[in-house]
Amino acid sequence: MEQRRLGRTDLNLSVICLGSMTWGEQNTQDEGFAQMDLALDRGVNVIDTAEMYAVPPRAETYGRSEEIIGNWLQARGCRDKVLIATKVVGPASRFPYIRDGKSRLNRRHIEAAVEGSLKRLKTDTLDLYQLHWPERPMNVFGELGYRHQDDAPDATAMEETLAVLGDLVKAGKLRSVGLSNETPWGAMRFLGLADAGLGPRMASIQNPYSLLNRSFEARLAEVAIREDCGLLAYAPLAAGALTGKYLNGQQPAGARLTLFPQNTRYRGPRAEAAIAAYVDLARQHGLDPAQMALAYVISRPFLTSAIIGATSLAQLENNLGALDLVLSDEVLDGIEEIHKVHTYPCP
Ligand SMILES: NC(=O)c1ccc[n+]([C@@H]2O[C@H](COP(=O)([O-])OP(=O)(O)OC[C@H]3O[C@@H](n4cnc5c(N)ncnc54)[C@H](OP(=O)(O)O)[C@@H]3O)[C@@H](O)[C@H]2O)c1
Repeated sequence: MEQRRLGRTDLNLSVICLGSMTWGEQNTQDEGFAQMDLALDRGVNVIDTAEMYAVPPRAETYGRSEEIIGNWLQARGCRDKVLIATKVVGPASRFPYIRDGKSRLNRRHIEAAVEGSLKRLKTDTLDLYQLHWPERPMNVFGELGYRHQDDAPDATAMEETLAVLGDLVKAGKLRSVGLSNETPWGAMRFLGLADAGLGPRMASIQNPYSLLNRSFEARLAEVAIREDCGLLAYAPLAAGALTGKYLNGQQPAGARLTLFPQNTRYRGPRAEAAIAAYVDLARQHGLDPAQMALAYVISRPFLTSAIIGATSLAQLENNLGALDLVLSDEVLDGIEEIHKVHTYPCP
């Protein structure tokens, strides 16, 4: 499988990264093991997780996805063949079970989070450690516009966050660091501080990116390319919605948006119209809609790796098939035409 360099590090990531957030909730440990076995066999060399997973987040499953990965690494003895990317939560008062609901990106909390992840993952080092969302108040989930809110008076300075990450890199506990749910301002600030010698350089930006949400292109794509800080695209199938399986009010049994209707990011009339158009386009060209959607994401020049999710081996097999798909100019033109009409329906 094609690999792309992670930032300015010496790590190379397969263009498909396996997401893990269903393991421990929608998927059992055995199902997670089977997905990792298959992905590794097909050349995937990176798994993305987070201290917060499984999702939807709840106290009982906090850290469960990391535990499943740790158990698998131990059972297969394959730590040297896989890169592990995980994340520390930003401020999360809605999760009282994570550091008493007072989590911050400060020294004490990051050090505690790293120790917890290392233990659950049964490893001595984390290959990519990402800030799951910024410490400052942000409207990064589901909104396109910018509403300014002042920082908390005792907000952690980015300099402190970067300094502790630097110390953890020096201690060998982290190999590289990255951002998630970030904006151009945040990314450039962190990169500038690193260039000034205040800590490690952020190697990647894990943000949503799919046919339903191309907002990364507006400003961050330039940052990704010029700064060698590429996109790790999450939800490239818009949580499964781009397969078309929820169109016309369908509610497939066991599927994420049926099970968890509170997840509205990829629902609603604007999403529905855009999805219908993309699914039609795929069908007109004899393509599988999921493979077309993934092939589009993988072919973007600012992408390092697309983080795919699956709840069955059949889905995973199907989606890995996107690697063999080169979209024709006709299909790419069709996608642009739809994007002009349905722009950012699901930011
Ligand atoms: N940084 C962040 O804030 C953030 C946020 C979200 C995700 N992530 C990361 O990104 C990873 C992937 O996210 P995601 O799971 O939302 O990605 P996704 O690829 O958009 O959605 C995956 C889901 O779509 C459905 N699906 C996949 N292939 C299918 C197929 N061929 N046919 C029908 N349904 C199919 C499955 O759910 P059902 O079977 O339930 O329908 C699957 O779990 C996560 O595991 C996590 O590592 C990060």
